[in-house]
Amino acid sequence: MEYVVETNALVKKYGQKAAVDNMSVHVRKGDIYGLIGKNGAGKTSLMKLLLGLTIPNSGEIKLFGSTDLGAARMRIGSLIEAPAIYKNETAMENLARFSLLAPTSKNRMHELLELVGLGDVGKKKAGAFSLGMRQRLGIAIALLGDPELLILDEPINGLDPAGIKEIRDLIVEMNRRGTTFMISSHLLDELGKIATNYGIAHEGVLEEITAEELQRKCRVSLKLGVSDPAKAQELIRASFPELQTHIEGGKLHILSDVNDPAALNRALVMADIGVYELAGEGTGMEDFFIERLGR
Ligand SMILES: Nc1ncnc2c1ncn2[C@@H]1O[C@H](COP(=O)(O)OP(=O)(O)O)[C@@H](O)[C@H]1O
Ligand SMILES: [Mg+2]
Repeated sequence: MEYVVETNALVKKYGQKAAVDNMSVHVRKGDIYGLIGKNGAGKTSLMKLLLGLTIPNSGEIKLFGSTDLGAARMRIGSLIEAPAIYKNETAMENLARFSLLAPTSKNRMHELLELVGLGDVGKKKAGAFSLGMRQRLGIAIALLGDPELLILDEPINGLDPAGIKEIRDLIVEMNRRGTTFMISSHLLDELGKIATNYGIAHEGVLEEITAEELQRKCRVSLKLGVSDPAKAQELIRASFPELQTHIEGGKLHILSDVNDPAALNRALVMADIGVYELAGEGTGMEDFFIERLGR
């Protein structure tokens, strides 16, 4: 398998402290890779290593399957921390300035501003932009040169719900058109709706998990103790076809999310099936992260 980003046992120390402690990252083409972890977990440090902004103490980096990192980094756009924009210039002037590094036609720059929802800001100076607009301008700058991979460090940090939705929609749309993303956040919720894979960072250590694995681990299910498990299973199949069930240890386990356990209980009792136990199993997604990240 060739990865867009692959690291092996990457280490970055500041003094004695490892900000990045043996991180092995695997991002495939087309992924939206959510790098989740609370402040100080090592997210920005990892991204800086990938971009060549700092040098690792040890470990390996491959980008687009290559160790020729200089060439590979030409294919990456990035936004690390707050975008460095010129406050007394317009969105277009800012783009033109940064396009010196990645030659881009005026037409393409207009397209990029349209894409990030800044198509109609005209002569307004960037200093008068909202935080969300500045962040979107930062993304437009990162898009100069049409990168195949975008590395965005906390792009949703500090935005209001409307701003968060705009950035999220933009990411999903660009991903649909083929761009691979690595996005960091200290909040699961911001990425939980769009990420295909997660790297969960905690004190410099990374644990990778796919969105499906996460969902499976976090699925809340029900365990039912009933007088007649086989009959109960039949009834649930007929009345609640969306629920997956299996019998194990004499108990009936329901794997899919049960929105209304009371209705389920009622249906069983009305069919003359005695229910002596009804308990939740598994952990919710927030619990899963809290367990790993601490509070
Ligand atoms: N330039 C630096 N000098 C010293 N320590 C740093 C530097 N950058 C980051 N650190 C430390 O490395 C750890 C990880 O920081 P960082 O990568 O910024 O985490 P995150 O982006 O997840 O909040 C923190 O303990 C932070 O204090
Ligand atoms: Mg950071």
